[in-house]
Amino acid sequence: MKRLLLVVLVVTLLSVSCRKAQAVRPELVLRYADNQSSGYPTVEAAKYLAELVKERTDGRIEIRVYPDSVLGSEISVMQQMSYGGIDMSRFSLGTLYRFFPELWTLQLPYLYTDNEHMWRVLDGEIGDMYLHNMSGERIVGLAWYDAGARSFYTRKPVTNISSLKGLTIRVQENDMMSRTIELLGAEAVQIPYEDVYSALQKLRIDGAENNLPSYMFMAHNQAAPYLYQDEHFRLAEVVMISVDARKKVEAVDPSFVDVITECAKESGLYERKLWQEEEKRAYDAAVKSGVKFTIPGKEDMLALKKAMEPLYEELSPQEREIVERIGNT
Ligand code: GCU
Repeated sequence: MKRLLLVVLVVTLLSVSCRKAQAVRPELVLRYADNQSSGYPTVEAAKYLAELVKERTDGRIEIRVYPDSVLGSEISVMQQMSYGGIDMSRFSLGTLYRFFPELWTLQLPYLYTDNEHMWRVLDGEIGDMYLHNMSGERIVGLAWYDAGARSFYTRKPVTNISSLKGLTIRVQENDMMSRTIELLGAEAVQIPYEDVYSALQKLRIDGAENNLPSYMFMAHNQAAPYLYQDEHFRLAEVVMISVDARKKVEAVDPSFVDVITECAKESGLYERKLWQEEEKRAYDAAVKSGVKFTIPGKEDMLALKKAMEPLYEELSPQEREIVERIGNT
């Protein structure tokens, strides 16, 4: 009798644990790419997004996050996503512009007065319009992430606009960025993010430009310790899903398409919080590592903005209208 009870107990326990294992086995695994490392706000927010999705789909959908460009550079990830090879990713606006030329206006230098201004715009009608326009036949935009403001950093001191003249500066593979650098009398070199550190080390470039967390996470401060904090670009980032992946999600349960969108938006709010914290941490670490900061004075700032006027003058009437609306937001 005792034996029988024991067998019944073991069988019951086994079937319960089997059922549990079945319940947690996902029906769909989505691969999510990011070119930043673990600990960086966008990657931590992607992990948070994965947790939310797991919870709200009862474990039926799993998002696996691949950081550090292991699935390729941003441009290659975008290409892979368009034929369904990668399901989800987080992209810089600077990269997205190559695929969505209408983003030209949104990346103009000195477009926003500060971060709050940018978020008023992106959280409002204009942000929704761009997110909607970034939803093509192959890829769909889900949510915005913060990426702060980009400033110049160089191997030699840069203390005002004229000291940028003649320098070779790395930019993203993006024409607006190249034009901006050239208007400052410097030479722009387009290099993928992953290769900037070695380009600085090998003296191929005199400097680059990026936000503080990227500068510190990629250890660019080691080679380029002069930071000229002009905050010329505020390029937000976008979480995207491929249309193929969305169809697969729909096949698991049509309501999960909205679940993923909601989770992406919630992860966006989480990322903004992480971003604020990381910017402070990166600033402290930069000071501690001996980075020399220069904040441009009023006149220098006016000269920088004046140098950018041709970019604004070349805008089409529709683009001008958007810039005006942004200014009034
Ligand atoms: C930021 C952004 C990256 C991008 C990089 C760049 O760090 O988060 O996605 O690749 O800028 O300058 O290329």
